[in-house]
Amino acid sequence: MKKISIAIDGPASSGKSTVAKILAKKLNYIYCDTGAMYRALTYLAIKKGIDFENEQGLVDLCLNHTISFKQTEKEQLVFVDGSEVTEEIRQPNVTNAVSIVAKHGAVRQKMVELQQEIGRLGGVVMDGRDIGTAVLPDAEVKIFLVASVEERAERRYKENQEKGITTDFDTLKKEIEHRDHLDSTRAVSPLKQAVDAVKIDTTGMNIEEVVKEIEEIIIAKS
Ligand code: C5P
Repeated sequence: MKKISIAIDGPASSGKSTVAKILAKKLNYIYCDTGAMYRALTYLAIKKGIDFENEQGLVDLCLNHTISFKQTEKEQLVFVDGSEVTEEIRQPNVTNAVSIVAKHGAVRQKMVELQQEIGRLGGVVMDGRDIGTAVLPDAEVKIFLVASVEERAERRYKENQEKGITTDFDTLKKEIEHRDHLDSTRAVSPLKQAVDAVKIDTTGMNIEEVVKEIEEIIIAKS
């Protein structure tokens, strides 16, 4: 079967990365978590003391440091300059700042270049906010995943608990709403459903059901 590109976009904790990872494994495709790239840059900015509003300073970080991934059986490991930061980039200090870092046009340009290079040959499942609209506008399959904010906050709460991160549920819900607001109202490549994307509301659905629905779309488009 021809190797296609699959773009999965949606708001925070809508299940994008879980589903994208499963699909990539089943199809033997590359998995690219673009949120992890913005998170790694935010982690670097915190570490180097670069202000989140300093667009040029953030671009310089992109130019002078390397963000890389390694896919293992279990997960995708993230590295900054060769050091693993998989856990660090999921901490609240990064989560609460990443949408500010990601709003800058020049930062996005650098990230999109890297993401397009990863997706150049097809055979990729890429998840994020602007994959169907900006990164892979010609992707054969575009999915826009949504879910109620309550359910998304519950998912993130459980995920955090498993990782040993303690968070108050209501605070988490407010943070998700705030991040969605920043991501969908920014001037450059806001979070938005591509006109040719299929929207799936995953509220009340389990992961297997979501994967099955997307697999049917993939078969129909391949
Ligand atoms: O997917 P995740 O929640 O890890 O993404 C973290 C943040 O990175 C998002 O809230 C958003 O600000 C930014 N992002 C983006 N464009 C993408 C992927 C993520 O702006 N393609």
